[in-house]
Formats: sequence, structure tokens, C-alpha cells
Amino acid sequence: MMERPTRNLGFDLLRVTESAAMMAARWMGRGDKNEGDRAAVDAMRLMFGTVDFRGRVVIGEGEKDEAPMLYTGEELGTGNGPEMDIAVDPVEGTTLLANGRPNAIAVVGLAPRGSMMDPGRSYYMQKLVVPPGARNAVDLDAPVSDNLASIAKALGKQVDDLVVFVLDKPRHRTLVDEIRRAGARIQFHTDGDVNGALMAAQGNCGIDLMIGTGGTPEGILAAVAIKVIGGQILGRLDPQSEDERRHLEEAGFDLRKVYSVDDMVRSNDVYFAATGITDGPFLKGVRYESHFVVTHSMVMRGSTGSLRYIESHTDLDKLMQISALSYH
Ligand code: FBP
Repeated sequence: MMERPTRNLGFDLLRVTESAAMMAARWMGRGDKNEGDRAAVDAMRLMFGTVDFRGRVVIGEGEKDEAPMLYTGEELGTGNGPEMDIAVDPVEGTTLLANGRPNAIAVVGLAPRGSMMDPGRSYYMQKLVVPPGARNAVDLDAPVSDNLASIAKALGKQVDDLVVFVLDKPRHRTLVDEIRRAGARIQFHTDGDVNGALMAAQGNCGIDLMIGTGGTPEGILAAVAIKVIGGQILGRLDPQSEDERRHLEEAGFDLRKVYSVDDMVRSNDVYFAATGITDGPFLKGVRYESHFVVTHSMVMRGSTGSLRYIESHTDLDKLMQISALSYH
């Protein structure tokens, strides 16, 4: 007998990321990354309050005392419905937004309660992300040149055809030398490695892989999407300060362990939504017209593998309502 279709929580998440993006985009290019983030957090929190689920933030805006909203451990939702872990980044790319640069997005991922990796006080993770065709061709312990050679082979390309997404950070100097010596090409970005991971996993955005160290929360958020898109993310906790290293060692984390997409999210029953705040490779940014606001989002569901791109037109009055409610 055919199973009856079930509710797609992704559509509820869509309203959450759309609202965050619409509010955050008011701060584009204004040079203030905290206000853009605050606007997105407020809108997200308000919309999460309408969603029938019992959500708990696993990947949030930081410790309770440092961020009063969407902190790790916070319970969200109406309290009815499935118990889920939440990974949230109201503005992924706060500096991109503050400087009016491309690729800022609002993002949320959900997985059944207990299935999302809790990275404790890990802020940085070494990552390698590839599309489905190269899923089995990567090894985080192998030299960069070996990975590039086997990814190229798996994708039916030459190494010098490959384009690698790399965050433009001083910590990547040696990595960049290795990539160049191997002959691959590089696309540098100042920020936004969730976007980088999505571009790499999708494999049709002019990027063949992403490599380098970025935020740990961003790695786990990307892993939720990669569960649906396919591909692979390999990650290893990569503390960037003595303090971070000490906390992780004291908490019993093995800093040599390589986590795969299935270690970061141990269920396929996931949901993911993202809305463009500024223009990006697969999501346009928010556009304000005279009477309405246009947003572009993607919504994914793991159990069915569905991926939708949605353009929404929202009445400006609705936006005013959200902003009035969230700023009381
Ligand atoms: P924010 O939105 O929190 O500013 O993060 C942007 C980002 O570029 C992430 O995409 C990336 O994972 C992380 O910062 C890298 O951190 P850092 O800029 O400290 O190297």
C-alpha cells in the first residue's frame, strides 16, 4: 500500500528564514554586523514560535549568557509535534551583509532529537566538501595534492580544471601554496563557507570542492544540507587558540578524529531552508519593491530527497508587522 504523504516541516522553516532575511537585508551595507544579526534573530525567533514542533537549539548563536536569543540549548516551537535538534545561523556572513557583499544567507537545519553532533565549545573545523561524484575519493589525512588528483579523476577532469573554494584567511597560506603547486585553481571568498559547502556539494556552481578551516557550526549546518544534496563533508575540529584547544581536550574530544557527513548528522530525516539576504550563486538577495518584498529560498527534505527553489512576494505591511512584533 502507498504511504500517505506527511507534513514537510521545511515549509515552516521557509517562513523562518524568509522573515530573517527580509529583516536582516534592511542592514545591508550599513557597516553594522551586530544590528543585521539582531534583526534576523528577532524575526527568526518570532516565526519559530509558530511552528508545531519541539525544537532544541544544538547549533546556535553562542552560549546563553553571551547571546540572549537562539542560544545553544534554547527550546523553540509551540511544544506540539516532533522533537528535533536545530542548527541555526540567522545571518551566515554578517560581515558580507554589513559590507553589502554577495553570499549572505539566513539558514536553518533540523534533525531528529539527539541525531545532530554537539561540538561543545569548538569554534573552528577543518573541512573538505565534494559533490556526489567524488564522495568516495577524499581522505582528510592525505596530502592536498593526492585529494585533488583523486577528486579530478572521480569527476572525469584534469587537476587544472578544478576550482577550489577557499576562505581568504592568513591561516590558509600553506594550503593555498599546496593547491597552486598541484595545479588547481582557486576561488577566494572572505566569508561564507556554508555557501561554499553548498556550491561544492551541488557541483554545478563553478566550484568542484571546498577546503580549509571555517566555523564548526557552519560545518554542521552544511552537513544537514549535504545529507539531502549528496556529496561528502569531512571535518576535523581545528582549534585556533589555546583556550579553544584546552576546552575541547578537557571535554574529551579527540582532535584527530575525522567526522563524515553521517557523523555530523546521524539521521536522514532532516530539513533545511536557506534564504538569500544578498545575491549569491543560487539564491538572489532580498529585493524591496514599492508594495512588496521579493525573496529567494531553497527548502530541502531528507526523507524524500526533495529540493525546492521558491520565490516569495510578501506584502510590505506583513514585513512591518514582523518588525513591529520583533522589536515590540
Ligand atoms: P559569521 O556570519 O558568523 O560572521 O561567519 C562568517 C564566516 O565566514 C563563516 O562562513 C565561516 O565559517 C567563519 O566565518 C570563518 O571564521 P573566521 O572569519 O573567524 O575565520
